[in-house]
Amino acid sequence: MQPRSIVFVLLASLFPFLGKAQSGGHAAMDQFVSGLMKKMTLDEKIGQLNLPTGGNFTITGPQPSQDVEDKIRKGEVGGVFSIYTPEAIRKEQDIAVHESRLHIPLIIGLDVIHGHKTIFPIPLGMSCTWDTTLIEDAARIAATEASADGVDWVFSPMVDIARDPRWGRVAEGSGEDPWLGSLIAAAVVRGYQGKSLEDTNTVMACVKHFALYGAVEGGREYNSVDMSPLKMYQYYLPPYHAALEAGAGSIMTSFNDLDGLPSTANHWLLTDLLRKQWGFRGFVVSDYTAVSELSNHGLGDLQAVSARALKAGTDMDMVSEGFLKTLKKSVQEGKVSMADIDRACRLVLEAKYKLGLFKNPYLRINEQRAHASMTTPESLEMAKKVAEHSFVLLKNENQTLPLSRSSTIALVGPLADDQDDLQGAWVLAGDPKKVITIRQGLDQAAGDSSRVIYARGSDITDDPFMVEKMIRYHLLPPGPPRQKDSAGMVREALQAASKADVIVAVLGESESMSGEAASRSDIGIPACQESLLHALVATGKPVVLVLVNGRPLTLPWEESHCAAILETWAGGTEGGAAIADVLYGAYNPSGKLTMSFPLSVGQIPVYYNHKNTGRPFDPNNKYTSQYLDIPNDPLFPFGFGLSYTSFSCSAPSLDRTRLTGDQQAVATVTVTNTGKYPGTETVQLYISQPTATLTRSVEDLKGFRKVFLEPGKSAQVRFTITPDDLKYYHMNLDYDWDPGTFIIRTGPNSRDVQSASLVWKKGP
Ligand code: NOJ
Repeated sequence: MQPRSIVFVLLASLFPFLGKAQSGGHAAMDQFVSGLMKKMTLDEKIGQLNLPTGGNFTITGPQPSQDVEDKIRKGEVGGVFSIYTPEAIRKEQDIAVHESRLHIPLIIGLDVIHGHKTIFPIPLGMSCTWDTTLIEDAARIAATEASADGVDWVFSPMVDIARDPRWGRVAEGSGEDPWLGSLIAAAVVRGYQGKSLEDTNTVMACVKHFALYGAVEGGREYNSVDMSPLKMYQYYLPPYHAALEAGAGSIMTSFNDLDGLPSTANHWLLTDLLRKQWGFRGFVVSDYTAVSELSNHGLGDLQAVSARALKAGTDMDMVSEGFLKTLKKSVQEGKVSMADIDRACRLVLEAKYKLGLFKNPYLRINEQRAHASMTTPESLEMAKKVAEHSFVLLKNENQTLPLSRSSTIALVGPLADDQDDLQGAWVLAGDPKKVITIRQGLDQAAGDSSRVIYARGSDITDDPFMVEKMIRYHLLPPGPPRQKDSAGMVREALQAASKADVIVAVLGESESMSGEAASRSDIGIPACQESLLHALVATGKPVVLVLVNGRPLTLPWEESHCAAILETWAGGTEGGAAIADVLYGAYNPSGKLTMSFPLSVGQIPVYYNHKNTGRPFDPNNKYTSQYLDIPNDPLFPFGFGLSYTSFSCSAPSLDRTRLTGDQQAVATVTVTNTGKYPGTETVQLYISQPTATLTRSVEDLKGFRKVFLEPGKSAQVRFTITPDDLKYYHMNLDYDWDPGTFIIRTGPNSRDVQSASLVWKKGP
């Protein structure tokens, strides 16, 4: 008999309901889990609530996990994360299934944030595609690869709305808008979880970070949040809810406190809202050591905070072992009830059940599939497509782009021939050696490498404070960071520039400058790269700035001095090939920003759906809401992105302007390609209500359509508007709409809109 069938027989005899249970509905699952829980001791139940790290990768917290295999053997572990490959996972699963008393399989988690082996652009970049089908397809590929590597469960999507680009984790999210963020959150969950979690190529999603992590004060990682209920419901909670409505099986608590109580111990958040209001039936996992960190928040010792976290609604404890070490004592002392332990244990077991693990603990562990599924030509093609669609053209003076194939290019910058940084933050399994650099991409696309003269030009940063930290955290090798002296590097770049018709400067951030634990107070291009750029611009040759970075940057000087600016984020495995295609015009850029680019750090937070204030800015009146030294508006607004062609959008025309109750209005916009290239425009619909019961955003995104047009062609796009689009949260948190006048705004971004108005009354 094969080892796997032995396991199955063993499990089948242990779990008598197994056969029908896996294919049955909730009743069968309840029956199965109840049967299993009857056999479990208190220790074994608590063991299911413990999630140590396999520890192969960067430890993102104060402590790694110890003696994990021994604990699995003793039934003290419910799942393990941060491991992959069938071999590594089989080893742990074998111990759980063969050597623990009840043979309960482990759930295996991993941070799969924007791809597993095939790396897609960072999520912020993907969101700029405004294409939920592409995003779902990318998540499907990530799930296929991760599951083939033995992973059951991914810590994604991160759906935290963020208005502060100093926070490095904006790279992992979908920007500032709750409506678009909700669509994307649901698409990612669908992509991961597929048709059934029992399918070999699906993984369970874990929505994070619940809640409001994107609103940390000052954009500083792990910081506090304080927010009014109205703001929370209106702008921050919708994407979490949308992801759960799409069926996400689990959710992760956030590190921050929220109105005086950290999420991990917040009963209102994890029970009243999540379970009672939203009816969530999956399980809640803490973030990395977020349970024991409750002590640093000032909530008591390990026993006290563990009890509090469990009772609030945290089901699984990631790494801190507060549950493992203290919950039994708390039960004995009457500080925690058996019902709380049973609730959490049941939810973890149910997740394993839904993932098909009781039927076959080795469902996703298959070396052959792993061998055949990774970085296939189809996946790489999709990665290139997603990357091309994610790039945002921010400026293109005198049609500098696309580049002519006969031009000689000086390709300059520390990110121009770089593999690691093109993968972006949060890549665990991706192989940087597979990444196509921008230099390689351009060489290939130019077909004649003498057309591309490369010089590195500068380091990524020479800021001593930052370099010292990077060395301390092993992100840079010790010793002098420079390959050469900076003046020498700039000289080489200028020599390359002197032989070229056009300069392509690839500047920005390294992968470790965004993502977790990567807040920055100055979000400009680092000084040494900036000096290089000044020298290049001074040559008088046109400079195309290609940005590689994980967040909106402040770019006022660049915007007024570079001929063209292409935002490419961290484009992933195929990033360099995609950038070359776009620079040469094989793909006409179509991405639109999902986060405003501030003019300066002092404007932060700056976001499109802000309130009007009682003194909206009036240039002729000092006593209106403004800064004396800079304009209020961001440099590049939400929804902004150019194309090599030009488009015109008509004002919206409405089929009716007086409506009652549940009627619908249709807004029609004619969009025309008025330029020379075929291209895609994203027509956006915003709604505002100037007079309402409460103050409202100046406008809220409520729809968009992507339209591909040949030069000279037009199309009509229609938006159906229903009362649902008018709703907002009222003082008592009712989600309803106020009758009155609504302004329907349409256009190519949140700033350049045209409008029409209608009056909507409540029904009789
Ligand atoms: C901490 C991060 O905040 C979270 O996003 C991640 O999933 C966990 N560490 C696990 O690595």
